[in-house]
Amino acid sequence: MLGVRLYGKYEGCNPTGSFKDRGMTVATTIAKALGARAVVVASTGNTAASASAYAARAGLKSFVLVPSGGVARGKLVQAIAYGAIVVEVEGFFDDALRAVLDAVERTRVLYPLNSFNPWRLEGQKTLAFEVVEQLGWKVPDWVVVPVGNAGNIYAIWKGFKELYIHGLIDSLPRMVGVQAEGASPLVKTWRKRARRLLEVEEPSTIASAIRIGRPVNWPKALRAIEESRGLLVEVSDEEIVHAMTLLARLEGLVVEPASAAPLAGAVKLVGQGVLGQGDVVVLVLTGHGLKDPDALAMLEAKKYSVPPREAARLLLELARSV
Ligand SMILES: Cc1ncc(COP(=O)(O)O)c(C=O)c1O
Repeated sequence: MLGVRLYGKYEGCNPTGSFKDRGMTVATTIAKALGARAVVVASTGNTAASASAYAARAGLKSFVLVPSGGVARGKLVQAIAYGAIVVEVEGFFDDALRAVLDAVERTRVLYPLNSFNPWRLEGQKTLAFEVVEQLGWKVPDWVVVPVGNAGNIYAIWKGFKELYIHGLIDSLPRMVGVQAEGASPLVKTWRKRARRLLEVEEPSTIASAIRIGRPVNWPKALRAIEESRGLLVEVSDEEIVHAMTLLARLEGLVVEPASAAPLAGAVKLVGQGVLGQGDVVVLVLTGHGLKDPDALAMLEAKKYSVPPREAARLLLELARSV
């Protein structure tokens, strides 16, 4: 349909339903080895779910700070189920992260598992290894990643670079970062070639996982874009919902809004002639859609309600349009 060869790297089947597990298993192992007794994260949801799951398995306490009212329902109940102590911060993710940074500076009791922790990124780079392996040791032309706190795009790029340095692949992909229009500090910074981050004070988008105004890993993400001759693009919430619909109804893949952003971005870039005929494009579909039922409810519904005796008649009537 788009003229490019589109692949989705679906991260919804990881143990807690997102890519975060790749890094969390590594960083929690390190926490345990260092003798930590508790871990802490600020989170838009998936980090909280993943950190608390791996902490539970490692016998560590977990504290999660989330923006009040800013986290998808499925992610919050997941973290609670794994036994996390949840602190809702009346503000944005960026306020929660600032509080975590402040606290970990003052105590050694809390081991931080946010993506400024380099072990997280070491785990997340394995996505690149799997992509190459699953494509039969071919390197895609483009890898498209949703960007929030901006760790993942750098981690994936690092993975590709390591394969290249060790002679396992002989080319590198170009990295594309996708942000939502209401939360696109990195896109703005990159476009203006600014030397400092152009922060977004009050980020807003239905893609709650990437509703971030001050991404902590912004210099690393910009390096990944620059080194790979990649680019950043922003998409609207409408484009995200349309991409969620396409993935669900053409591929049978239910993803959360942030994870649909790469498809929305790819569609835009095809329209602009940036992605060319026959290019191999990998979309990183970062998390499972069931975590965010309120977002799924935005997809157009075909739903009827009838008494039992009328159900068969309605079905036959509907079947006429097949
Ligand atoms: C589903 C999903 N996609 C994308 C992201 C963004 O990843 P990063 O913060 O590494 O840019 C997140 C982060 O929470 C996420 O949960």
